[in-house]
Amino acid sequence: MANKQFDVVVIGGGPGGYIAAIRAAQLGFNTACIDEWKNGKGGPAPGGTCTNVGCIPSKALLQSSENYEQAAKHFGDHGISMSNLAIDIGKMLARKDAVVKQNNDGILYLFKKNKVTFFHGRGSFATAGDGAYEIKVAGSQEETISARHVIVATGSNPRALPGVPFDEDKVLSNDGALRVPAVPQKLVLIGSGVIGLEMGSVWRRVGAEVTVLEALPTFLGAVDEQIAKEAHKAFTRQGLKIELGVKVGEVRNEGQGVSVSYTTATGQAQKLQADRLIVSIGRVPNTIGLDPEAVGLALDERGAIVVDAECRTNLPNVWAVGDVVRGPMLAHKAEEEGVAVAERIAGQHGHVDFNTIPWVIYTSPEIAWVGRTEQQLKADGVQYKAGTFPFMANGRARALGDTTGMVKFLADAKTDEILGVHIVGPMASELISEAVVAMEFKASSEDIARICHAHPSLSEATKEAALAVDKRTLNF
Ligand code: FAD
Ligand code: NAI
Repeated sequence: MANKQFDVVVIGGGPGGYIAAIRAAQLGFNTACIDEWKNGKGGPAPGGTCTNVGCIPSKALLQSSENYEQAAKHFGDHGISMSNLAIDIGKMLARKDAVVKQNNDGILYLFKKNKVTFFHGRGSFATAGDGAYEIKVAGSQEETISARHVIVATGSNPRALPGVPFDEDKVLSNDGALRVPAVPQKLVLIGSGVIGLEMGSVWRRVGAEVTVLEALPTFLGAVDEQIAKEAHKAFTRQGLKIELGVKVGEVRNEGQGVSVSYTTATGQAQKLQADRLIVSIGRVPNTIGLDPEAVGLALDERGAIVVDAECRTNLPNVWAVGDVVRGPMLAHKAEEEGVAVAERIAGQHGHVDFNTIPWVIYTSPEIAWVGRTEQQLKADGVQYKAGTFPFMANGRARALGDTTGMVKFLADAKTDEILGVHIVGPMASELISEAVVAMEFKASSEDIARICHAHPSLSEATKEAALAVDKRTLNF
């Protein structure tokens, strides 16, 4: 018999889970959230992959390494000279850890503020019946609790190369990649996706010789081709070696380092020696320890929990959100699903628009997009107009000293409705929000072209790209 009863129990305290718990509590449900992540001292560290080994620490390291590169290579342009420039990797990592802790503590505070009961431990399904589910909590707190509604938000884990387990010393997942204690002389990354480019950039900026090996023949296949080409040029100029179309063969963890054998796109056999290897070839949904079989919760062949468009599983009143279900593995997607599910439980009409989920790669230049790419529109047979505007012609970008890249608009040829916006350049992560709002409100490119944008600002490049759709840029 369960000793604590709740209206809603959320299993997993990442962005999908903790946000779902807060929204459920706001809606008046007696809510609990169970999360097993431990900090270095064994205490609770809610926030999941995102807070502990994902979005937040990677952005902290991207900022530190970007500051270092700016000081080393670009401060001179401003007349600022420096001598004895050095980077203390220990301090850089400690700062990142402090940023993570602030976020962990923030979530614990939010649980208290919203009266969400937090359990630190592993949650697993025990039984179903009588209009409620029993969930076992095992860890620093051991109990069995029950709930009418369960939201599963157990996230994802890094995918390893077959036969090459992560030891987080020489063969690193995203976890080890965020705590390399000293700059490796030679670093190899397998996979030039989002993690490959972000973590490759961090360690290159602080002095590592970085090679990225990618299986696909095209660089960033999901990104608009014109934008991906521009980004590839910029990364190559910076010294990131990216080899496309390779077939990775034997990977040997030799204790002192790692050797990676591979075949190039032209069929040549190659071998690289590196101090460390980061494997960033995607992530897999996580249901380890959840015991889905105990209640008959259905998983698909990838191990993801099967859900419908509204995050309902095959079981009544059991929902699943975030990385453990289909769709992009992004923190904001997980959060939106969490909110929508809590609202659906309350009888409201929670909604997530999958067409307007933005993507951002936090490299320099940043890459951000929403909606369809030019190649997708062609494949879908959609008639469209395109407009681009380079940051080179933007006054604020010149003042910043960062004129790489462009903003690109794609709009319906007949109705002018915006179908996609793609940015490579400074602060693309912030600029993309305007495009998301515009698309959510079904705006046309003319709507953006007629809106007054502050001068001088990078957002003027967005307005100009919208003007470019009608071939009437003012500053280019
Ligand atoms: P998670 O964040 O994985 O959280 C799941 C939680 O559930 C974890 O705390 C886990 O310990 C817990 N858990 C699992 N099973 C149980 C159980 N049985 N009982 C109790 N607790 C359990 N996304 C972005 O949008 N922007 C970014 O900049 C970004 N950067 C990233 C950088 C890196 C290096 C990585 C790896 C990912 C990044 N992501 C980013 C992706 C993002 O982290 C994920 O999409 C997001 O964390 C998914 O949220 P979630 O709540 O579904 O799962
Ligand atoms: P990814 O899916 O972005 O990229 C994986 C890359 O590895 C692909 O290009 C793929 O072709 C390649 N690959 C796969 N197998 C390979 C092999 N055997 N040899 C060589 N290349 C191979 O996955 P990644 O970078 O691991 O990130 C996982 C997920 O985490 C992302 O898809 C994203 O959802 C999330 N994330 C989001 C971030 C953001 O929003 N800024 C940052 C980091 C991660």
